[in-house]
Amino acid sequence: MGKIPLIKLIAKLEMESEVYDKLAKIGILTVEDLLLTPSEKIREKTGLPRRVIRKLIEEAGQLIEIKAESAYQVARYMEENIAYITTGSRMLDEILGGGIETSSITEVFGPYGAGKTQLAMQLCVNVQLPKAQGGLSSGALYVDTEGAFSPRRVAEIARLRGMNSDHALSNIKVIRVLSASHQHAIVSSIDKVVHSSSIKLVVVDSLLHHYRSEYPDLHMLPARQQAIREELSWLARVAESFNLAVLITNHVLSPIKSGRLENAVGGHTLAHLPKTRVYIRKGPDNIRIARVVDSPTLPEREAPFKITEAGVEDI
Ligand SMILES: Nc1ncnc2c1ncn2[C@@H]1O[C@H](COP(=O)(O)OP(=O)(O)OP(=O)(O)O)[C@@H](O)[C@H]1O
Ligand SMILES: [Mg+2]
Repeated sequence: MGKIPLIKLIAKLEMESEVYDKLAKIGILTVEDLLLTPSEKIREKTGLPRRVIRKLIEEAGQLIEIKAESAYQVARYMEENIAYITTGSRMLDEILGGGIETSSITEVFGPYGAGKTQLAMQLCVNVQLPKAQGGLSSGALYVDTEGAFSPRRVAEIARLRGMNSDHALSNIKVIRVLSASHQHAIVSSIDKVVHSSSIKLVVVDSLLHHYRSEYPDLHMLPARQQAIREELSWLARVAESFNLAVLITNHVLSPIKSGRLENAVGGHTLAHLPKTRVYIRKGPDNIRIARVVDSPTLPEREAPFKITEAGVEDI
């Protein structure tokens, strides 16, 4: 979608300038902004009647260029642009179709101590590697909701992989998130951070931490799900727009029973939002077992890997 100034649309419809002012006030300055903001949100924030908003959206359809691509073009685009970040374990990469994919969200879920944070930190190091070594020669952004990000651990992983640890640390930006609202505000404007730097991996570890403690009761669930849905939709859009990988972690209390995914991403309603979902459980010693679940493109398969001083490795 090209950027068409909103004023052009308002003028075409001969609407009052008050409509423009109300929309501009909430940051809608282009036709693109208008179509990418949920219409109910526009209504809530501007107080404009639904009828007016619907008219604007219908007319916007006349102004924008509608691009329908052939499946062949889509396939070519994906082949040329979608990239993968190695996890550090070839077997795990294999079941993931090459590693953690750019342009979409990957959810890693599992119980306490499964290795979700370890894997996330490992990926922040690996994304910096050159392409030939499974990286994207880029930096990472770590949205840390639990205070679990450990620069010391990252430095250790980087050093034991033969990298300069200070250099590795300086390529990772960390945002410490203090509450659910803080997280919502940060996630909603994350494009500003990734826009200005060469970031190809965004981690949110973990997505629900603050939401679980701030929205503990059943009646709060719809509000919580709504907030999380918005964050995931926004992250998916950022992943696609910037062709970067988004990794979210999710703590689940109980192991999955007979293949069903209780508790992940706050229940079933949001489970479709991450494209790839990986369940990690502990095995004996330092062994972990990862299982790809629910993927639209990957078969459900398992791979063992281990976590050592040097990070994620093949067994
Ligand atoms: N330096 C290290 N060397 C070897 N193993 C390590 C090292 N540091 C951490 N680990 C392993 O990683 C585990 C912790 O994993 P991690 O913190 O990633 O769990 P998690 O899935 O994020 O759990 P939570 O849900 O509590 O956040 C430790 O129990 C240990 O087995
Ligand atoms: Mg963790």
